[in-house]
Amino acid sequence: MIIGVDYYPEQCDRTLWEHDIITMAQTGVKVVRLGEFSWSRLEPREGDYDFEWLDEIMKLCASAGLGIIMGIPTNCPPLWLYESYPDIVRIGEDGKPVQTGVRGHRCINSPVFIQHARRITTQIVRRYNANRSIVAWQIDNELEAYPCTCPACRDKFRAWLLDKYADVEMINKAFGNVVWSGEYNNASQIQPPTAYPKAWQNPALCLEWYRFCNDSIINYVKEIAITIRRECPKAVLTTNTCFSSNTPDFYRLFGELDFVSYDNYPPIRMPEDKQQPYSHAFYLDLMRGVREQKFWVMEQLSGPTGSWSPMSPAPQPGQLKGYSLQAFAHGADAVIHFRWRTALTGAEMFWHGIFDHSGKPNRRFTEFSDLCRIAGRLGMLEHTEIVSDIALLYSPESSYALDIQPQTAGFSYMEQLRRFHYAFSKYGANIDIVYPGTDLSKYKLVVAPSLFVNKRAVTENLYRFVINGGTLVLTCRTGVKDEHNNCIMDDLPTVFKELVGAEISEYDPIGDIKRTMRDFSGSEYPCLEWCDILQPTSARAYSEYTDGFYTGCPAVTMNRYCSGVTYYVGTISTQEFYDGFASNLMTQTKIPKLKGLPQGVEVTTRTNGKEEFIFFFNNSEETAEISLPKSMYSLISATGKDHLVLAPFETDIVRK
Ligand code: GAL
Repeated sequence: MIIGVDYYPEQCDRTLWEHDIITMAQTGVKVVRLGEFSWSRLEPREGDYDFEWLDEIMKLCASAGLGIIMGIPTNCPPLWLYESYPDIVRIGEDGKPVQTGVRGHRCINSPVFIQHARRITTQIVRRYNANRSIVAWQIDNELEAYPCTCPACRDKFRAWLLDKYADVEMINKAFGNVVWSGEYNNASQIQPPTAYPKAWQNPALCLEWYRFCNDSIINYVKEIAITIRRECPKAVLTTNTCFSSNTPDFYRLFGELDFVSYDNYPPIRMPEDKQQPYSHAFYLDLMRGVREQKFWVMEQLSGPTGSWSPMSPAPQPGQLKGYSLQAFAHGADAVIHFRWRTALTGAEMFWHGIFDHSGKPNRRFTEFSDLCRIAGRLGMLEHTEIVSDIALLYSPESSYALDIQPQTAGFSYMEQLRRFHYAFSKYGANIDIVYPGTDLSKYKLVVAPSLFVNKRAVTENLYRFVINGGTLVLTCRTGVKDEHNNCIMDDLPTVFKELVGAEISEYDPIGDIKRTMRDFSGSEYPCLEWCDILQPTSARAYSEYTDGFYTGCPAVTMNRYCSGVTYYVGTISTQEFYDGFASNLMTQTKIPKLKGLPQGVEVTTRTNGKEEFIFFFNNSEETAEISLPKSMYSLISATGKDHLVLAPFETDIVRK
């Protein structure tokens, strides 16, 4: 378990470097990320390179025994590049050039930009390709599925569509452009759907634009990856990612790279409503599922956040350490903290690192030091993995399509996934979050909320899973769209009708109106946002509506299909419903449950095939007590324990 820090030597005085690097090593830091935004220091003028400062800091790292993650600094091209080649600037959604002097302000489709990005990459890698301290290379920073609308991007988008559809006639047909006289006569009429609110644009065009933006970043990453590998064939490559309004398709992006990295900023303030799914374990599980492998946290919360937003509260005692151990529990191999020193200058000066502006040891540094000590004791977890019986399916395309056409007030694709995740985690289950097309045969239970945009391969995958004896959960707004993001002319849930054993005779997009349902055991739950009115063909009702014009109609159904079972949840409900439903599903599928876990306590199990190690993380502001079924060895205290008392945000790890 590796602890690291993000360090920006170019942003602080040189006299601090040696002291910083030695302190890092003494504290237990193992790796440092360098270089990420430093192009203007590496190449102050075109073709005039200065690596002397980077050589120096890298030497200091090497002599302190620190590994290096080398950043490829293409996110922030220097201003001289814009002056010489003004066309490389990104054009924002408003059609205006993004102001230089910020970051991410380059068009990644610009051939001129790519040429220069490859040039600086070649220089860096050629210089350091034999450097044994480098453990990985990070390409760029937080690549998003950007809507750049410069002339090069427009041309490329048109060519991309023609390549896919052969001619504009086919595009017109696929997009249904006859609506509002939107038919193209020629490709030059095709415009990216950015200048106007997405709600007014053709959803088919929007989805293709999203796919094009993804292809653009993937091509860009490929270009840089090829450039790095040409100079250093054994280079280990990644890019750091996050969720945003332009979240990329992680599955495709990381297909080009060696491992996944995630920037992890969990919530500091606990929600007042304890039922709200707030745990970042959801995102950590999702990141582990991207390549179905362990991943790195490349940036980890270390202090109050803020700068472009009002500052957050300071991380509470225990959160800094607790959230890093939570990331380990969910499959991170390394947690790199953002950042060692808080910036004194620049737009991010109030996004705090471990040290405040003074640079003096503080409460957070003490906690960080303790984390490093603990990480040093966890060597025996190195070859352990997380094995899950339950998978949640995350579809980037359905997520995007539901973002651009939110079905009713309050309806959220991600929120549904999070509620299911939170429910299963209350029973101590390991949960994978994976691509809908992946091999599902190792799971007992698969939950696929709102698969809105259908792909034949995914549909077949889900049928196969149930035919072979799996238990599947589908929810409302499944099977609505074809792969062009157009509605399918059939009764819902269209391609899934047989599996579900029911048809939806009508739906009621209730938005903020509240309805109620009662399940087979007599428990009542609210129905929110959406109500599908189900007519079973072979399914049985699991719960029925108790009001509205569909009183007595099934809201949730259960259908046996071949050797498996499909549940269909035709509505959205509160967390209590998902908790009870998850418990029943786990009983039905014989997935072990931990009962009576205190509120907020998260349990994750890692195994090496012979032994199991259980993480107990108290993700709450109250002390939690847990009785273990027998005495177990604690890796944290190096003693046997049959009872755990966890302070807020404290973790214990026991060997079963
Ligand atoms: C991340 C980004 C970092 C830094 C951090 C805190 O999104 O990768 O460079 O900006 O946020 O603001």
